Amino acid sequence: MARRMIIAGNWKMNKTPSEAVALIKELIPLVKNDAVDVVFCVPAIDIIPAVEAVKGTNIKIGAENMYFEESGAYTGEIAPNMLVDAGVSHVILGHSERRGYFGETDLDINKKVKKAFEHDLTPIICCGESLEQREQGITIDWIRQQIKIAFLDITADQAKAAVIAYEPIWAIGTGKTATSDQAQEVCGAIRDCIREIYDEATADAIRIQYGGSVNAKTAPDLFAKPDIDGGLVGGASLKAEFGDIVNYE
Ligand code: 13P
Repeated sequence: MARRMIIAGNWKMNKTPSEAVALIKELIPLVKNDAVDVVFCVPAIDIIPAVEAVKGTNIKIGAENMYFEESGAYTGEIAPNMLVDAGVSHVILGHSERRGYFGETDLDINKKVKKAFEHDLTPIICCGESLEQREQGITIDWIRQQIKIAFLDITADQAKAAVIAYEPIWAIGTGKTATSDQAQEVCGAIRDCIREIYDEATADAIRIQYGGSVNAKTAPDLFAKPDIDGGLVGGASLKAEFGDIVNYE
C-alpha cells in the first residue's frame, strides 16, 4: 500500500503570534504539494492566528504538546478539546525535549495518545535514543519499549491513523542528520514492532517520520527509504528551506 507522505514542522519555542503569521504567509506558496500532508506544529499561543492564516491552503496546524485530562486544576496545561475547538488536527506527543526537560514518561505519553484519539486528534508520537544508548547497541530495544508503552490499549484502527516520529536525540539540533540507512534501519524496526503488536494491515498503514537535522539536502535520500513516510523538521521548518523539503522530489 502506498502511504501518503507527511512532512511536519516543529517550531518548538520560536515565533510570537505576529511573527508566526508573517512566517506562514511567506511559506504558503513554498509548501504547496498535493502529494504530501503538510503540518505546522506551532507554540500554543500561535495556534489561533495560525489556523486563521492557513485557511484555504493545504497546510494543517498541529500543537506541540497536550495534557491527558479533560479539564480542571492543571495550571498552565492545555486540554484536548481546546486544541480541537481552535482548529488543530495534529499533536506532537512525547518529544525528547518534553521527556528530557519536563520529565514526561512513557506512561504519560500513552495517556496522551489515548486522549488524542478520544478527541480525533492525530498524534505524532516521538521516540528516539541518546548517543550513549546508540553506542551501547541498545537502540532498537529502547525504541521498541517506547513504542510498546505508547501504544498500550490503543486499537488497531487507531494505530493505523497514528504517526510515529523517529528522532535520534543525538541528531536533534546538532546538524548531524542520521544517515538514510541508519534512519531506515530504525524506522523498519518500528514498523516490525507495530506488526508484532497488531497485524500486517496496521504496519502497512501507520506512517513513520524521521526527525533530526533534516534539511533540503538530506531530505530526498531519507524520504526515498521504504519505511520513512516523511519528516518532523525543527530548525529548517522556520525558513524558506522548508518549501524545498516539502518539495523534495
Ligand atoms: P532539528 O530539525 O532542528 O534537528 O529538530 C528536530 C526535531 O526535534 C523535530 O521535532
